[in-house]
Amino acid sequence: MGDSVAIEASARRRRAARRSASLMPEDGECAAACGSPVAANISRVNGRTKRDRSLETTSKTERKRRTCDPSERLSCHKTQDSLLSSASGYNKYRGILNWCVVMLVLSNARLFLENLLKHGILVDPIQVVSLFLNDPYRWPAACLVIVANVFVLVALYTERQLSKGSFSERLGFLVHAINMGVLITFPAAVVLLLPSVTPVGGASALSIYTILFLKLYSYKDVNLWCRELSSIKVKKLSRSLSCPSQQHWSGGDCKVSYPGNLTIRDMYYFVFAPTLCYELNFPRSPSVRVGFLLRRLCEMLFFTQVLVALAQQWMVPIIRSSMKPLEDMDLSRMTERLLRLAVPNHLLWLMFFYWFFHSSMNFTAELLRFGDRQFYNDWWNSETVTYFWQNWNIPVHKWCLRHFYKPLLRRGFSKKVSQSAVFFLSAFFHEYLVSVPLRMFRLWAFMGMMAQIPLAWFVGRFLRGNYGNAAVWISIIIGQPFAVLMYVHDYYVLHHRQEVDGL
Ligand SMILES: CC(C)(COP(=O)(O)OP(=O)(O)OC[C@H]1O[C@@H](n2cnc3c(N)ncnc32)[C@H](O)[C@@H]1OP(=O)(O)O)[C@@H](O)C(=O)NCCC(=O)NCCS
Repeated sequence: MGDSVAIEASARRRRAARRSASLMPEDGECAAACGSPVAANISRVNGRTKRDRSLETTSKTERKRRTCDPSERLSCHKTQDSLLSSASGYNKYRGILNWCVVMLVLSNARLFLENLLKHGILVDPIQVVSLFLNDPYRWPAACLVIVANVFVLVALYTERQLSKGSFSERLGFLVHAINMGVLITFPAAVVLLLPSVTPVGGASALSIYTILFLKLYSYKDVNLWCRELSSIKVKKLSRSLSCPSQQHWSGGDCKVSYPGNLTIRDMYYFVFAPTLCYELNFPRSPSVRVGFLLRRLCEMLFFTQVLVALAQQWMVPIIRSSMKPLEDMDLSRMTERLLRLAVPNHLLWLMFFYWFFHSSMNFTAELLRFGDRQFYNDWWNSETVTYFWQNWNIPVHKWCLRHFYKPLLRRGFSKKVSQSAVFFLSAFFHEYLVSVPLRMFRLWAFMGMMAQIPLAWFVGRFLRGNYGNAAVWISIIIGQPFAVLMYVHDYYVLHHRQEVDGL
């Protein structure tokens, strides 16, 4: 009995000793804090080196004090900031980002369900055809696109005559000017005068003509630069430039030199290539990757369907319901509709960006083995409006810099004047692409583009970092639906009034 009591007492003592030992820092920690190298190794084995380095250095002295001072060994608190205080320096918000995505999906799912319950299924892929064609036996927009080849051939012919010396530089310039003048006015006249051209068909044809205008302008400039360069070379080296017009690159592709580039094949390669800036020798990819090509094709088809479905199911009902508040000039309701439209409009715009700048352009580039795939940059990180315009549409930005902005700077115009001139040209084309197909001139797109100049100044001057980035996003998210609503409202009022007048 006495033995069992003694054993029980000694076991209790052992348990108490173990408990107090577990509250104390381990040997390695204490010794490491006290500076023993052996103990430091032990502490590394215990995994303490995995801790954040910065935190370790700041709390080193504190730990040293606590581990060596027996009265501090039992402490479980230390001086530290809460994670959400900016003083804590904490920046790992991945979980919060995921939460944002989950919230976004959930709130949009609710909107989606509400939309379905209210309107039923409005998606109708066949209706899309009617956006392009009024009459299935007449394809005016497609005919316009076919006619565009005439302008391409005139530009090529002019350049050939210039290279042979049959046209003087002055005559060549005149022919190019007339060709490009007609290129931009002729389709506009057809769209305005021919009632069978639908707004969507007209906008598509005019977009192709605008792209062609920018391409032919670049073609003319580059060939002129080549002639200037070769005449300088001729003067310098006093030898003719009758070198073979085609040389072989190490990569196997032919390297073309002026005037060997003035062929139909070269011209049409440029017309179809996903760039607006002409070059005699574009960088080429070694081969066509079939898998990559098919992935881009699937994305194109998928996003086309999604874009159409979202526009029909989500945007059109909101736009329809916005007409009354707009007509009544009911400001609070107008703002509510604008904000309501902002979400689907923005989603559509983002999808359009991916569809056009990633899927379609990469598809075309892969097919043509066009090597330069920088069609966009990280515009989503824009902290200034200037950065956004430099990075969201690289082909247009490159063209603006090479053929308009830098030539203006070289002629002695100031940066501000040159930038304003670029935005003016861009505003003109934005208005051209909207007003002509809608057959009404309201200048909303023009003003939206010109407003970028004061906006760029304001954001650059007063906002920095995340605030600048938020300002860029807000201008995109709110600015676009505002313009959309204005155009749709004006279009509706114009046609509604015409119908009423006709009765
Ligand atoms: C106007 C615009 C061209 C200005 O571009 P930017 O990059 O801000 O212009 P910068 O003043 O920084 O200068 C750009 C280039 O000009 C060069 N440059 C500057 N001053 C120069 C001068 N006096 N002479 C020659 N070159 C000069 C710079 O070195 C720089 O060259 P780099 O690109 O080779 O580095 C640009 O904002 C733009 O493209 N806007 C329109 C975009 C648009 O409408 N897009 C439509 C999409 S739908």
